[in-house]
Amino acid sequence: MNSPLTIALSKGRILKETLPLLAHADIHPVDDLDKSRKLILDTNHDAIKLLVVRASDVPTYVQYGAADLGVSGKDVIDEHGGDGLYEPLDLKIAQCKLMLAGPADVDLERLTRMRVATKFVNTTRDWFAAQGKQVEIIKLYGSMELAPLVGLADCIVDVVDTGGTLKANGLEPLEHIADISSRLIVNKASMKMKQQAVKSLISKIRAGVEAA
Ligand code: ATP
Ligand code: PRP
Repeated sequence: MNSPLTIALSKGRILKETLPLLAHADIHPVDDLDKSRKLILDTNHDAIKLLVVRASDVPTYVQYGAADLGVSGKDVIDEHGGDGLYEPLDLKIAQCKLMLAGPADVDLERLTRMRVATKFVNTTRDWFAAQGKQVEIIKLYGSMELAPLVGLADCIVDVVDTGGTLKANGLEPLEHIADISSRLIVNKASMKMKQQAVKSLISKIRAGVEAA
């Protein structure tokens, strides 16, 4: 008998891009996800449930064992920190770059403290600190591109894919901080206690990534 497994996903691009990988592992949600408002989704396997949580909350659910596994952007994992988590598989979905961005004429070498708007507070602090720079970080939860336009910040740290959002707001990519993709994360205790079920699922999803 297979151990029950709970997998935390977030609505939007992660759910959309993870479903084909789950399908490759013969895991299919029972409900129509475009219509359902349920937060715990049944699948075609009684033992496997999907949780629908906010993207930035996925590592928290997995760290505390509320979910055995999760799918989370590397940006979110790095910001959260890796306590209690394994990160066994790069799913190669939701690929983008974490970047410093701002107006083309922003002076990155200025001596007074720069103000940087971001939702990635820890990552941003560490990245500037590694260059010997202290900055004032302004925590935002979205629409970071607005901050330099209205004088809230000098520049931003955010994910960039096509660059369309930056361009539409008169901003430019200034520095590359990290390549981002979504990762499968696993609760450390689940990896031990439900080893067979977890490892079997990882290898099926890995095959899906390789086939994609
Ligand atoms: P939250 O609701 O917690 O603030 P969010 O709105 O950022 O999260 P999504 O937009 O669904 O959630 O992003 C989920 C993940 O997808 C991000 O953590 C990042 O790794 C990746 N991502 C974000 N924006 C893009 C993009 N434009 N193109 C590709 N991948 C992206
Ligand atoms: C993300 C990110 C950028 C945008 C970058 O926002 O915060 O604003 O994508 O993508 P681009 O380089 O292709 O324009 P998203 O579309 O997820 O909206 P959100 O603000 O709701 O997270």
